[in-house]
Amino acid sequence: MIDRNPKTFHVKSFGCQMNAYDGGRMADLLEAQGLTAAAAGDADLVVLNTCHIREKAAEKVYSDIGRLKREDGSRPMIAVAGCVAQAEGEEIPRRAPSVDIVVGPQAYHRLPQMVAAAARGGRALDTEMPATAKFGSLPPRRRQGPSAFLTVQEGCDKFCTYCVVPYTRGAEISRGWAAVVDEAKALVDRGAREITLLGQNVNAWQSEEGRGLDHLIRALDRIPGLQRIRYTTSHPNDMTEGLIRAHAEVGTLMPYLHLPVQSGSGRVLKAMNRSHSARSYLAIIERVRAARADIAISGDFIVGFPGETDAEFEDTLKIVRAVNYAQAYSFKYSPRPGTPAASMGDQVPAELMDERLQRLQALLGEQQLAFNRATVGRRTSVLLERQGKKPGQLIGKSPWLQSVHLETDAAIGDVVDVEILSAGPNSLAGAELVKQAA
Ligand code: SAH
Ligand code: SF4
Ligand code: F3S
Repeated sequence: MIDRNPKTFHVKSFGCQMNAYDGGRMADLLEAQGLTAAAAGDADLVVLNTCHIREKAAEKVYSDIGRLKREDGSRPMIAVAGCVAQAEGEEIPRRAPSVDIVVGPQAYHRLPQMVAAAARGGRALDTEMPATAKFGSLPPRRRQGPSAFLTVQEGCDKFCTYCVVPYTRGAEISRGWAAVVDEAKALVDRGAREITLLGQNVNAWQSEEGRGLDHLIRALDRIPGLQRIRYTTSHPNDMTEGLIRAHAEVGTLMPYLHLPVQSGSGRVLKAMNRSHSARSYLAIIERVRAARADIAISGDFIVGFPGETDAEFEDTLKIVRAVNYAQAYSFKYSPRPGTPAASMGDQVPAELMDERLQRLQALLGEQQLAFNRATVGRRTSVLLERQGKKPGQLIGKSPWLQSVHLETDAAIGDVVDVEILSAGPNSLAGAELVKQAA
């Protein structure tokens, strides 16, 4: 046990963007308590902010814990946060006795008290839900880069049969209108030029009066200095007409939509409890493209869901061809304890999953490269986010979320006009356009 209060901390986040947001908020909290950020090897307190979505991610926690040693050979205070903390709770210190703190994603506002308890030699565990108290008890946002995350919605009521999120994050809740707008303004005051609104089903967000995400986006569009708005992840069922219209009408709303479909097979989608069909998904994509022709569509896919046949997998390739994705994430199905799919018969053999994943990723990779190549020669805006490898080079994002590197005298946080010169699978090269005198 550790018998002293930590002075430095390190937060390591895994998993989705919401975990990244939570990791940032835990850092805000610890800094407000007077701790300072440090490298993992030096920190007195290490927070592992974990992900439970697939088995590999969840198991990684234990090997990470085993490796936590400081430069001088001593062991830091260890906190396990995030979705593994929520799912496994007391099991964690049983398997890994060096863990001092276990804190769930809806309880981390109490992290400072838990650190104090652990410093007195105890072990602290808190996996209480739901998140009603959390947001109200967090300190103001601190440091901020040009692109910021803002969680507006948490939890999920959809219960897809393969997924742990409804169990680790709890029921769907929306943060209130004023809290969100205030946090967005604070982020812009601290240097954010782009805000990505986050939620497990972000397009299910509703204000106290029942107004949808499109209203919120229109309100944020009026914040001076905020130049770009994004949102993720959306569920096809909550893709309202108003939100689609916002893509046609709101200038700061970027032309990018992450809309996971998971599979192209009607039978598999039913077994997944996705509550949309391949056809209804394609109809949404059509409406979105009618509103904003150049929109980049991205998605998530699972191959090898229990019982998936060759023909059903071919249906997934078919929907990929029909949509033509700009970007995508694809995974092998991973059975998760407690989810209905884990006890379905007919689990697909590992080699078959590997083969399907390779074929799917080859197709998605081709589409991504084609999308990137189609932007060559275009003139567009780039939000500069970080230093490149070469001197004078900065890296930023296009409206379609592509990484663009260019040489420029402009500063990080500036939005510059760029001509796209060349494209690879994962990034673009651009040249800054010099503004002509009128
Ligand atoms: N709320 C979002 C995504 C949540 S998790 C949505 O509904 O789309 C991110 C992605 O992980 C999912 O879209 C899915 O593709 C993948 N995923 C979730 N559970 C999984 C599992 N058990 N095995 C493999 N992939 C999974
Ligand atoms: Fe998981 Fe489905 Fe909810 Fe997405 S919608 S978080 S995949 S249960
Ligand atoms: Fe992982 Fe939890 Fe996000 S399981 S994907 S960190 S919501």
